[in-house]
Order: sequence, then structure tokens, then C-alpha cells
Amino acid sequence: MALKKLVAGNWKMHGLSSDLAEVQAIAEASRQYPDVDVALCVPSILIERAVRAVPGFAIGGQDVHHSDKGAHTGCISAQMLRDAGATLTIVGHSERREAQRESDDEVCAKAQAALACGLNVILCVGESLQVRETGKAIETVVAQLEASLPHQATEEAELAIAYEPIWAIGTGQIATSVDIAEMHAAVRGRLGARYGGAGEEVRILYGGSVKASNATEIFQIADVDGALVGGASLKAADFMPIVAAAAEARG
Ligand code: 13P
Repeated sequence: MALKKLVAGNWKMHGLSSDLAEVQAIAEASRQYPDVDVALCVPSILIERAVRAVPGFAIGGQDVHHSDKGAHTGCISAQMLRDAGATLTIVGHSERREAQRESDDEVCAKAQAALACGLNVILCVGESLQVRETGKAIETVVAQLEASLPHQATEEAELAIAYEPIWAIGTGQIATSVDIAEMHAAVRGRLGARYGGAGEEVRILYGGSVKASNATEIFQIADVDGALVGGASLKAADFMPIVAAAAEARG
């Protein structure tokens, strides 16, 4: 059975007050697509204003600390995200795994902290070009997933996985349909092994240069339950055709 598609935007370090108009435009246009879940993960400093601008629309963070409070300068807890009105957060994005040297253990702890606080989680995994070229993409991503997955699924909040090949992020290159299908099947298998029947309900998103021009093809692939979109999520004019493609692909 096909899962309801989730199309989430990751604004990364983009977005000022003046861009709240795009958040509003996206939230407004998304009402036409009740069969797709749409979310925007904006810079943390914009979360509260975005939530006020679009009540009821899913606004998320892009990272979270694993502790509930303490001496962690510059960090944000799950409770703080909730307090600002966020309903979800990304964890383990490759840009953080690389630049902030986040380990799988840390990503796992972040995912657990967020879920325990009632935040839905999009947990990212993905291989480098070098790993892909040496034919080790599947085993690398499965190992990364295995070590990053929260120990248990919760009833209160939902886990989704985003498969984002690092070499496809912001490059305009995307993995082939065959490679995406193969990886998503491997991820689905691991989720089943870990969570049993509940693993079937976990949405697996594809991310990396998703655009209006390739979204329809990507959403046809088995076990692609949505997309995590970077650059093309910043403007409603670029993002909404991706949401529309997800709506058409349903069932
Ligand atoms: P792009 O869509 O800009 O390639 O970014 C993908 C991404 O990293 C989303 O988290």
C-alpha cells in the first residue's frame, strides 16, 4: 500500500523576514493538495515567525541537540523547537555530518530526543561520490542507517528517512531510478528488520537536486514516499510543482 507522500523543504541557511511571504505562499498553495503532507524546515530563528504566519502548516527545524538543556552554547533542544511551534526536525543531514563532524551515535541520540519530545523526525543518510564509485553505496548507507536509527519507534511522533546521495545535493545530478529503487528497497528492508511491521509505515524520502523537471519520475519509483528538497523549496513557484507531482503520483 502506498504511503501518503511527504514533501519537505530544507531552507538550510537561507531565509530572512522578507521570505516569510514565500512560506505563506507555499502554505496557502499546499491546501490544494490535502493528499500530500508538506513541510518547511526553516532556519531556527525564523521558526516562530513562520508558525505565526501559517498556523497549522508544518514548520520544522534543521537540527536539534540531544540534551534537553545545559551548557551547550549555540544549540537548540527539542523542547525549544516545540516551544517555538515546530512540529518536526531534520537530523543527520550530510552537511552537518561533514561540517560539524556529527557521528552516527550523535544522530541517533538527536533522533531519539526529538521523537521523545513529540517532534517528527526526518533522519538523513547518504553516500559520498567516492563510495558510490567504489560500488559500496548500499552497504555504506545501510550501515549508516543502522547506527543512526532511534532504538525504538514511538507512537507520539513519526520517523521518516531521507536518502540523499551527497554528490546529488546542489549539483543538479540525481541518482538513476534503478539506483534510487535499489537503495530505497535496502532502507525498507533495514527498517523492517529493526521495527517489524512498523517499518512499513516509515516514509522514505529521496533528496538531492529534486526539481519540478525530475519530480514526476522520482515519485514513480517504488518505495519513494516523498522528497526532501533544498534549493527548489525556497520559492513557491519552484516548490509547488514538486508538491503537485507528489499529489499526482499518489496511488
Ligand atoms: P538540493 O535540493 O538543493 O540539492 O538539496 C538537497 C538537500 O540537501 C535537502 O536536504
